[in-house]
Amino acid sequence: MITLRGVTKRFPGPDGPLTAVDDVDLHVPRGSVQGIIGFSGAGKSTLVRLINLLERPDSGSVLVDGEELTILDEEALRRRRTKIGMIFQHFNLLANLTAAQNIELALRIAGVGKAARAARVAEAFAVVDLSDKADAYPAKLSGGQQQRVAIARALANEPSVLLCDEPTSAVDPRTTITVLRYLQEVNERLGITIVLVTHEMNVVRAIADDVAVMEGGKVVEHLRLDGSPLRPQTEIARFLLDDRIRLRPERSLEDSNAG
Ligand SMILES: Nc1ncnc2c1ncn2[C@@H]1O[C@H](COP(=O)(O)OP(=O)(O)OP(=O)(O)O)[C@@H](O)[C@H]1O
Ligand SMILES: [Mg+2]
Repeated sequence: MITLRGVTKRFPGPDGPLTAVDDVDLHVPRGSVQGIIGFSGAGKSTLVRLINLLERPDSGSVLVDGEELTILDEEALRRRRTKIGMIFQHFNLLANLTAAQNIELALRIAGVGKAARAARVAEAFAVVDLSDKADAYPAKLSGGQQQRVAIARALANEPSVLLCDEPTSAVDPRTTITVLRYLQEVNERLGITIVLVTHEMNVVRAIADDVAVMEGGKVVEHLRLDGSPLRPQTEIARFLLDDRIRLRPERSLEDSNAG
């Protein structure tokens, strides 16, 4: 369970402070998948980094599994963060370590004893069906396989929450489906709460329960993906839902439907 209340984050900019995340409230129930969508610069990455306090908010409250994170000191936060997994667009595996060593290192950093580490590494590889690639270096793996190693690395620490920042933006559409399937399995079988940042509506529509639409640092709308028809209220949500590429404004959605 994740609850953000009135969270604001500003960065220094050339023309004074820039509000990257502006007074955001967000509640993500335990075991659900929360999508976050918006255009470049909307504040999506900053918002997701506020959940594990990789960014400290200027104001507001960040609760994960009922614990207020903003009051923890750095050491307590470091320990707490091991239970909040994170994966990224570019996988962020260490190139000089094998897939297994990448996971082993994450466990060692989290203070998991040597005996437990081997078993945890094996279990994590099994979840993403990559046991045969344990000794491969990242350069020998496809993008989709690297992302699955990154998912395994996050899972090895037995997180309650998995934060995903554009996890499918660097892979092709077919691999996107594979990565999403594993995320879905992680959510459904292991009960891990997922926050998934993307700029692609198709990606969140595939697995999210709710999509928060961001613009200018604010959550401007929520789209509930419960099977009922979507009724976007904001211009931005409508645009994101109609994600065909149109270079000429006169080629509107209605025109192309009619034609
Ligand atoms: N460390 C930083 N220092 C200064 N400004 C920052 C920093 N991080 C983000 N910003 C600014 O905050 C705003 C939101 O950035 P953020 O990376 O959260 O957007 P985003 O929605 O993830 O965009 P994208 O889709 O391009 O990844 C942008 O204007 C960005 O330039
Ligand atoms: Mg981003």
